[in-house]
Amino acid sequence: MRTQVGIVGAGPAGLLLSHLLYLEGIESVVLESRSRDYVEARIRAGVLEQGTVDLLTETGVGDRMKKEGMVHHGIELRFGGQGHRIDLHELTEGRAITVYGQHEVVKDLIAARLEAGGEVIFEAEAVDVESLDSQNPTVRYRKDGEDHELRCDFVAGCDGFYGVSRDSIPEGVLTVYERRYPFAWLGILAETPPSSEELIYTYHERGFALHSMRSPELTRLYIQCDPDDDIEDWSDERIWEELHARLATDEGWALAEGPIREEGRGITPMRSYAVEPMQYGRLFLAGDAAHIVTPTGAKGMNLAVADVRVLARALAGFYASGQTELLDRYSETCMRRVWLAQRFSWWMTAMLHRFDSSDEFQHRLQLTELDYVTSSRSAAKTLAENYVGLPMDLDLGTASTPVQGTSA
Ligand code: FAD
Ligand code: DHB
Repeated sequence: MRTQVGIVGAGPAGLLLSHLLYLEGIESVVLESRSRDYVEARIRAGVLEQGTVDLLTETGVGDRMKKEGMVHHGIELRFGGQGHRIDLHELTEGRAITVYGQHEVVKDLIAARLEAGGEVIFEAEAVDVESLDSQNPTVRYRKDGEDHELRCDFVAGCDGFYGVSRDSIPEGVLTVYERRYPFAWLGILAETPPSSEELIYTYHERGFALHSMRSPELTRLYIQCDPDDDIEDWSDERIWEELHARLATDEGWALAEGPIREEGRGITPMRSYAVEPMQYGRLFLAGDAAHIVTPTGAKGMNLAVADVRVLARALAGFYASGQTELLDRYSETCMRRVWLAQRFSWWMTAMLHRFDSSDEFQHRLQLTELDYVTSSRSAAKTLAENYVGLPMDLDLGTASTPVQGTSA
């Protein structure tokens, strides 16, 4: 089989890239190791930045998101038994976030691709990407127990952190940046209406907790736990006990309980990771295949979207004119946003998690950071503009591009 762009992985990055290329008249084939049912039910991220929402809307895949997504104008930071609202909308001249599950975005993109006659091959596992420095890179994959080859002009490695694309790059080419943390997140999806209209990020002596949601009937909750914990050791009773303790306020706020669904229950280790460059020959990495951020800033899926937006534009430029200028700058362009997201995610993580319970100095510093962020308008503005997402035209500019407002 032959196509213009071979895409490995049908997560948000791979599917959106295929959709954007289709709109540019460029043919692609998406290979996905899992089944359609599996990827459409996989509970992951939930917060879409304003720029992600705008891109999905402008490219015709935002109808259900507009109807079912929940637009939030603020978030709460909770510590010392008190809540403090960060007014995202007011602090960012009218920007907002939308809470809409990643698997819903995936469903909408799969439907759009298939309706347009696009090719998404499920249960097709890429095993290798070859001939990357030739003009005919090839993806070798297995489907129904047989070996196949997909020959392409370009390959997009959108196969997440554990995919094969990144490992196909010869040793010595990539520089790896990594940081691991002494904690993980335990996440659950509970059948109960959210107990607050907005997300609540909590710092507590017993550790971080996050109250989020998926719909008016479903609450998504996370707690900091030990990375070596076994999910089996976390009974429903123990999970609720920790959530109640960490989210409690002096004003008597109550967290509603409900049956915990099996889907969405799991422990995710915390890690920051990035490789540079995000390209080798005719292979371009996008999304989690190239970088992982800690989830505290809600940036992972949004970065995947930003990467493929840059890649689709660069490929469109190549097919229109034969020029490789935008492709050559792909990695540099994306890495600027990646590092800004790494910095923000690391900062949110450091402010909101309990590192060493015996380190009182660290504890007081974190409380002071939270006090500052919730009492200084400039500090709150910094959090808000990063949280709603740095503008998309960041990816068009040079190092001196202002991130907010005008340069005049
Ligand atoms: P993925 O979604 O991982 O997709 C990669 C795809 O490639 C998968 O479908 C996989 O099955 C497939 N694949 C892998 N190997 C192969 C192969 N060999 N052959 C073929 N296919 C293959 N981000 C946010 O922006 N906001 C949030 O609120 C947020 N919260 C999160 C909470 C949790 C608990 C977790 C785990 C993540 C969260 N993230 C969040 C991060 C976000 O989910 C990821 O950044 C996002 O999934 C990246 O998309 P992707 O398309 O790059 O990779
Ligand atoms: C969700 C996940 C995050 O990582 C985050 O920072 C906020 C919300 C969520 O899954 O709803």
